[in-house]
Amino acid sequence: MAHWSEKSLRLRCVPINVTSIAELGIVTRAEPATYLFWLPFGRTQLDAQSSKAKFATLAEACSTLNERSTVCFLTTPEDAALLLSSISNVLKFQHWVAVKTTPDAYDKNEGQLPRRHAALLVFTGYSGVLGHTKTRIKYTYCPGCGRTTKDYGGKAHMYHEYGTSISDVWRDLEWDPTLGVNIVVDRLRDLFGLEPYRELTLVDLHECVELLPARTALPCEGPLRVRKRGMGNHPKRLRSKLIHGDCLETLRSMPSNSIDFCFADLPYNLKKKYCGWKDDLEIVEYFQWCDEWLAELLRVLKPGGTLAVLNMPVWSARHFEYLSSGMTFRSWIVWEALSIPVRNIMPAHYAILCFSKGAPSPLPGLTNVNEESYLTPQREGFCIRPGCYLKRSLLNIQDRGEITDVWHDVHRLKHNTRRVNHPCQLPPLLMRRLFSLFTAYGDMILDCFDGAGTSTLVAAQMGRRYIGIERSKRYHNLARKRHSQLREGHDPFAPGNEIPKSKNNQVRRMPSQKYPVTKKDLQLDVKRIYQELGRLPTRDDVARHSHHPISYFKEYFANWGEVCAAARTTGMSDASPLD
Ligand SMILES: C[S@@+](CC[C@H](N)C(=O)[O-])C[C@H]1O[C@@H](n2cnc3c(N)ncnc32)[C@H](O)[C@@H]1O
Repeated sequence: MAHWSEKSLRLRCVPINVTSIAELGIVTRAEPATYLFWLPFGRTQLDAQSSKAKFATLAEACSTLNERSTVCFLTTPEDAALLLSSISNVLKFQHWVAVKTTPDAYDKNEGQLPRRHAALLVFTGYSGVLGHTKTRIKYTYCPGCGRTTKDYGGKAHMYHEYGTSISDVWRDLEWDPTLGVNIVVDRLRDLFGLEPYRELTLVDLHECVELLPARTALPCEGPLRVRKRGMGNHPKRLRSKLIHGDCLETLRSMPSNSIDFCFADLPYNLKKKYCGWKDDLEIVEYFQWCDEWLAELLRVLKPGGTLAVLNMPVWSARHFEYLSSGMTFRSWIVWEALSIPVRNIMPAHYAILCFSKGAPSPLPGLTNVNEESYLTPQREGFCIRPGCYLKRSLLNIQDRGEITDVWHDVHRLKHNTRRVNHPCQLPPLLMRRLFSLFTAYGDMILDCFDGAGTSTLVAAQMGRRYIGIERSKRYHNLARKRHSQLREGHDPFAPGNEIPKSKNNQVRRMPSQKYPVTKKDLQLDVKRIYQELGRLPTRDDVARHSHHPISYFKEYFANWGEVCAAARTTGMSDASPLD
């Protein structure tokens, strides 16, 4: 077992076979329980669209379950996206977990990104935080240096000896849908093994006649249509430019069928502090706005070209619903952006939803000899320590693997020296990989939320043309300045000396200072006090028992949770237990 659940009362698994939707009535139960609905695999975008009425029936069945129940669905991302809207009407959505699948789980599609994940949706009948056991995933050790694959730097004292907290990307297992669901059931039995639950009911729908893959399903009518606007097709090649303006207004003035790759890293409506933009619209208003510019992106996109939208999985499900009514689904890329999950089922990934206009053309990055190496990701299992990289390249150790739709090796910009004054910049490597995959040299890329210019800068570096639209004058000017630096031969992504004022998370930034005692020493002192008292110490306890002045704890740490971080866990060693 690659996981360990603290104090788990492992659930008993009770399988129920449902061969027709009409039999769903047998699932109804009065006591709280955990359910896993397992849908047939191999279904397509069209199967998912034509099953909407069946999903509504599934939702009805779920509405009769005890309100303390936990209800999971294991299926393809296409089904999961459309199920989510039906089931959310009756249950509270909690998590979208990306579960790694075996290489042959999906049919191979020449010239398209290989698929390697399924979706596990988790809902509850109650509205609070999801109840589950504290579950950890066992550390893995790099074959290059023998140390843990995640680099904990000087913070090993703050991590647990067994493994990392579970996140919403399960890459430590590989699900083969042809072999049943035991591998997933096994984890759920421990994850949800807490009072008052006793059973995991496995509702096996994989032979349910109404849900079997149809192969011949017909496209459904939907709200998304290619719009006609005055400018028609554009005879001339568009030139690269940055535009200060509203995306919708600007898009409306652009010619149809003129862009090879549209990219949108939109505001997530999470109350981020953007300059000149209110990031907290009513959700209906937010999606109406999204639908408007998505329809314009479809219009300006060339036939066969790709539209990629980056968002949280739950919002991506709604984009999927809209886009699939008028475009062809290409890929659901799981971008695992968080390297160290620190709390229970930590949301660690974004979805990059890719659709094509009409039939998808073969991906340039997979069909031509590519000029860049961004399409050979670091192989899972290897660490990112610079010394180990060097050793691997000197010893010619093969640490690069094949690209799939699960991206685990592109890390967010964590270090302030790599960031400029924008609250949520993307890492340049993410754009390099997307452009290498979806575009060829000279292609036109459109980013309608250009921000600090990450995508347009990368496009320029890679010999692509670009149009970047940004509504905030400040960010637009910032992007322009960085493009000038690039034209003058400087690297706009090189580390800088200034600490940016914009923050990408809510945690208070501590002033830079020289510490007479290390933060680690302070945290270990708190751990000593915890062991003496037999409980987590309060500020008064620390003031009374610490070897250090209480003022240090106030000045060094953003909050009390950080002060007690080492006391709450065992501490770990970087080295493999075999060493
Ligand atoms: C998530 S950020 C994009 C960050 C960008 N990918 C980067 O790496 O710098 C979204 C951006 O969209 C901009 N924005 C919000 N509403 C807009 C609109 N209606 N038209 C154009 N830009 C908009 C915001 O100012 C913000 O800079």
